[in-house]
Amino acid sequence: EEPQTFYEAVGGEETFRRLVHRFYQGVVDDPLLRPLYPEDDLVGAEDRLRLFLIQYWGGPGTYSQERGHPRLRMRHNPFVIGSAERDAWLKHMHDAVTSLELPQDLEKRLWDYLVYAAHSMVNAPDA
Ligand code: HEM
Repeated sequence: EEPQTFYEAVGGEETFRRLVHRFYQGVVDDPLLRPLYPEDDLVGAEDRLRLFLIQYWGGPGTYSQERGHPRLRMRHNPFVIGSAERDAWLKHMHDAVTSLELPQDLEKRLWDYLVYAAHSMVNAPDA
């Protein structure tokens, strides 16, 4: 029998759906972040982030079937991401992660990854 993936351990697609939906509920009202995202396609952005995270954690590879190799740093180049944008992103993501009420060890693994990934996405030095 295959070992359970992290994707399965946290509850599969439904959990990632809740996570990313809650995250974008925060982005919608954020004056710093909202302008970075497509004006009329926040649903598409939600789909892309959800499918990426599902794939990353061992679920179906739909993200790469639709989008190709993630190349996340490159895909973020069009957006100016400094420490303020990173921290705003992480604030909404923290709210979303804790809303899942996962077992502590799973929550920590997910959160540690998101913090690391968000730091690696910064592409603009502070003034
Ligand atoms: C796309 C902002 C961090 C994963 C985007 C987009 C924006 C954005 C504006 C375009 C939305 C769209 O898909 O149309 C930011 C900001 C971050 C951040 C301000 C702060 C650090 C992250 C992190 C991850 C991530 C940490 C992964 C864990 C993605 C993915 C896409 C995306 C998968 C879609 C890429 C594609 O297929 O085109 N992000 N992002 N982002 N972001 Fe981020």
